[in-house]
Amino acid sequence: MRIVLVGPPGAGKGTQAQYLAKNLSIPHISTGDLFRANISQGTLLGKKAQEYMNAGQLVPDEVTIAMAEDRLSQADTEQGFLLDGFPRNLAQAKALDRFLADRNLALDAVLDLEVPEDEVVKRIAGRRICRNDSSHVFHVTYSPPKQEGVCDICGGELYQRDDDHEDTVRKRLEVYHNETEPIIDYYKAQNLVVTISALGKVDEVTQRAMDALQRAK
Ligand code: AP5
Ligand code: ZN
Repeated sequence: MRIVLVGPPGAGKGTQAQYLAKNLSIPHISTGDLFRANISQGTLLGKKAQEYMNAGQLVPDEVTIAMAEDRLSQADTEQGFLLDGFPRNLAQAKALDRFLADRNLALDAVLDLEVPEDEVVKRIAGRRICRNDSSHVFHVTYSPPKQEGVCDICGGELYQRDDDHEDTVRKRLEVYHNETEPIIDYYKAQNLVVTISALGKVDEVTQRAMDALQRAK
């Protein structure tokens, strides 16, 4: 299946994407994780992205679209993929449609994770991620690591993301409402959107998502 995951910052996209990608045997492609890997490797792309990310703004489309298409080109797009954090505005959504149409492909579903803003704020405030791999995600209360400050998966150090501080989170939520939410209507017009509540335990949300994707097939 070719799936796009949307939802506000902190909705649990990265958390759910790990399980869904595994269950569906498709790669999880997160533009946020790709940017963070570039930042920690000190690449030119990382340097370009960092100031936008720390300000809670979108990285410019030309940079983001090129990076996403490059990563998608390495995947077996016929087999499928789970996109997390891309597309994030209408220009990116249209670029993705063109990329797929050029390969005679289309999306199968857009999974929209719905979470009230007060819950999102709690999730982001307690999030800790791994220095080695930003897809290793924990929460100080909701999914604490076995040993405080240490990643269960690889033993790396856990830290709070630079863009998870209160002012930046407020900006990211505003950007989500203004720039990303409009893509939900764009995809609704293509009959692709399945909306689920992302409240509840992580495994309950995964089950809800799997059921919804099954119905969308
Ligand atoms: P990105 O990394 O994509 O961030 P985001 O969309 O803001 O999403 P988050 O990573 O904050 O949250 P999430 O929904 O993945 O939640 P998570 O699973 O971690 O983007 C960062 C920045 O990069 C952007 O601001 C932008 O600058 C740039 N960027 C990226 N893509 C771009 C694009 N396409 N165009 C332009 N710029 C782009 O969960 C959150 C916390 O909650 C965790 O601690 C987790 O343990 C916990 N949690 C998860 N599920 C549950 C649950 N069910 N119950 C309790 N706790 C839970
Ligand atoms: Zn780790």
